[in-house]
Amino acid sequence: MVATGVLSALGMLIVNAAEVPRISKSAAGGQLIVNGKPYLILGGELGNSSAGTASQADSILPQIAKMHVNTVLMPVAWEQIEAVEGRFDFSIVDHWIDVAREQRLHLVVLWFGSWKNGVSSYAPAWVKKDTKRFPRAVSGEGDELEILSTLGAETVKSDGRVFSELMKHIREKDQEQQTVLMAQVENEVGYLGRGRDRSEAANRLFRSAVPPDLVRKLQSRQDSFSPELRAHFNAAGKTWMEVFGDAADEVFMAWNYARTIEAVAAQGKKEYALPMYLNCQLPAPGEQAGEYPSGGPHPYYLEVYRVTAPTIDFYSPDSYWPNFEYWIDRYKFSGNAVFVPEARLESAPYNAFYAYGEAGAFGFSPFAIENLQGAADASGSGPTIKDVYEVLSSLSDVLLAHQLSDGTRGLLLHSNSPRATRTVALGDYLFEATLSRSWPAKTPLTDEGAMIIVQSSENEFYIAGTGLTVSFFRNPDVDTAVGRIESVEEVSRSNGNWSTLRRLNGDQTNQGRQLLMPAHQVRVYRVVLYATPRNVQGR
Ligand code: DGJ
Repeated sequence: MVATGVLSALGMLIVNAAEVPRISKSAAGGQLIVNGKPYLILGGELGNSSAGTASQADSILPQIAKMHVNTVLMPVAWEQIEAVEGRFDFSIVDHWIDVAREQRLHLVVLWFGSWKNGVSSYAPAWVKKDTKRFPRAVSGEGDELEILSTLGAETVKSDGRVFSELMKHIREKDQEQQTVLMAQVENEVGYLGRGRDRSEAANRLFRSAVPPDLVRKLQSRQDSFSPELRAHFNAAGKTWMEVFGDAADEVFMAWNYARTIEAVAAQGKKEYALPMYLNCQLPAPGEQAGEYPSGGPHPYYLEVYRVTAPTIDFYSPDSYWPNFEYWIDRYKFSGNAVFVPEARLESAPYNAFYAYGEAGAFGFSPFAIENLQGAADASGSGPTIKDVYEVLSSLSDVLLAHQLSDGTRGLLLHSNSPRATRTVALGDYLFEATLSRSWPAKTPLTDEGAMIIVQSSENEFYIAGTGLTVSFFRNPDVDTAVGRIESVEEVSRSNGNWSTLRRLNGDQTNQGRQLLMPAHQVRVYRVVLYATPRNVQGR
């Protein structure tokens, strides 16, 4: 009896160990499941030239491991693993996996194959030099570009083959330990230049009818259309211009990239079914299609990707522009899982709170994380992403549990925000934040503040953040009561247990009125609120 129990327990362990990481989607968003449990990626992406040798792993990964990062996003370049056609060299990738294991880090591989930031600079020389076999996209002026055309059959075949070899190799080396969690297929694809690819093959295709299958699939999903696609889509048309109007060039490119990537990704997934995603270079303010990679997986025409590339598990924004909230919110749609593979390192300590708390992201990852080594932040006054990750890693089990029930919120505030206050609602309360100020002079102590709020019970909230002063109100949509502070404690969490560091009151809560966070450190608080009936007297 006992022996059978032990055997079946062992059996369970073996089954669990072999379960490949996967994305689980629900109405609340998406989570990454690793070894059967939700996993919060506290990520960092390496700079483009930081993972090209084995020795870089030895110097870089131990430094990153000290930053409370748990997952490193690393480029793997086609030119590196198939410098000679048909001969695959995974020695550098293997060394990175070995060192990551020693440092207790996970990896996400970024496949720099046919396209990286729109261009094809990571293709091996034998691909770059043979423009007949691997045709280029052509500009409006008739020039061959440094961009492989999506319509090169040999390009798709060769890219698909090397990507499938890579995934096969990772499966063979890593499926038991699962150091590698996911793969990004290509990097920020899209056509750079006016209009679209003008190669003969592309012109021919553009002049023929939009594939009826694409129109039919889109027609059946009009409920999920972005406003931009809705404004342009005319199912009654035949040509690309008739069906997509002014957006025809961009949608044409989106469809071509989507089907090419689907062919590459599907070959890789057949070998090892890790979650696969695409990242997107978003338009800088005022940029037009072609200035940003046109036809990339950006939110306007993303539905074209979703119906064309079923192998792709989710779509991700790379975030470098000031309107972080706007862009990440556009990736928070039904059926997607929010993950930010690239974000500006300088703003990351603040934006991370919004990503995990408000957008329900399962991961966030500042770009060129290795540049943080030893430094505070660019201005010399923290917090850094290291400070934020230190706190968030202690809270990750709490965050993951409450993300699922829509029990988290996040908020960002900048000195140049249009309003001096920002408010979020959670449970029966409103949380109104302003940037922290000195007392009594009331001079601003910081230009930026951010927080994440987790509701742990009806009146109890954990708040982690920096640089904000928070006032609490009863949500008038709930009832007419007044919301007040019962208690505020500064707390910490270690191995799943809470400890109280300080009970805050008096000057430290503005005499029981507010939560006051320091400007340059990240702190965690347990705030208990209560509601009392509003009694209007003496009228
Ligand atoms: C976005 C790209 O995806 C990255 O590889 C890198 O080039 C950054 N832009 C810019 O540093």
